[in-house]
Amino acid sequence: MRQRHPDGITPSEITPEAVFHARRDVLRAAGFVGAAALLASARAGAEDIPTRYRRLPGLKKSPYSVKETPNSFEDITSYNNFYEFGLDKTDPAENAGRFRPKPWSVSIEGEAEVTGRFTLEDILKPHPLEERIYRFRCVEAWSMVIPWVGFPLGDLLKRFKPTSKAKYVAFETIVRPEEMPGQKGRTLDWPYIEGLTLAEAMNPLSLMVVGVYGVELPNQNGAPLRLIVPWKYGFKSIKSIVRIRFTDKQPRTTWSEAAPDEYGFYANVNPEVDHPRWSQATERRIGSAFLAPKQRTLPFNGYGAQVAALYKGLDLTRNY
Ligand code: MTE
Repeated sequence: MRQRHPDGITPSEITPEAVFHARRDVLRAAGFVGAAALLASARAGAEDIPTRYRRLPGLKKSPYSVKETPNSFEDITSYNNFYEFGLDKTDPAENAGRFRPKPWSVSIEGEAEVTGRFTLEDILKPHPLEERIYRFRCVEAWSMVIPWVGFPLGDLLKRFKPTSKAKYVAFETIVRPEEMPGQKGRTLDWPYIEGLTLAEAMNPLSLMVVGVYGVELPNQNGAPLRLIVPWKYGFKSIKSIVRIRFTDKQPRTTWSEAAPDEYGFYANVNPEVDHPRWSQATERRIGSAFLAPKQRTLPFNGYGAQVAALYKGLDLTRNY
């Protein structure tokens, strides 16, 4: 998202994707990737999940799941944004192997009756896990469909009894430069921080995520605990969370501080508000044929029926 380029697209946005597809095309041309393998990668791809990932048992299906075909496990875990592990899409999968997501704890702070440090086990215990197949739209105009495993963020937040002063929720990612090589540089201000209004956080679509494709989250996808807000651009969906704070003020957020003219606090998916350097009207589905037509981006990423009411009276062109 950084590293500007004269034509408005950063090298890190285009190169890895081009390489990714070029590699597939070469393999395909050479006959290494047969029709069956291609079909498998376009379909669920669940059979390709390495056995080192622990399976999460007893998952409920969710009525909030979309009917679209999910991307493959390979796509979801090899094409990532996680700047703590590097700028390129392939860096997180390559560099996150040394990251230790266990043991883990989360600090709950601010305007709530219950605060303190909670282990991941404490956080998860009361919450039945479910699988939710969500559309995921990155601000860089690509998208995927991802079968996340998690539980509603609101169910977690209610346990801490936010006070009447709590209007927003702020989130923070862990800082561990020894395990996260990207944090040794100043590509972003660490820690990565994000935030939601309390009403957004309480919306049943906001998900605390601990897994994907029925297994524990791979490190590159934000192990062991991340946020997913499916109607917002992907940068709101902060990974590897160690702090949650209830506050009366709109929280600072990493990308709106790094480039305020390009990334706002709300960051709702909106085909009518272009990024200053590219259109948001269409998107490319990762895993589709390289020359396949782009698809139209939907307002609120297709989740308008559930969330549009949150923004009544707010000018979403100014509050991007
Ligand atoms: N969280 C942290 N801590 N660091 C990051 O660099 N990148 C964001 C978001 N959460 C990011 C992060 C962006 S830009 C996107 S698009 C999504 O994570 C990518 O999630 P995925 O790699 O699981 O698809």
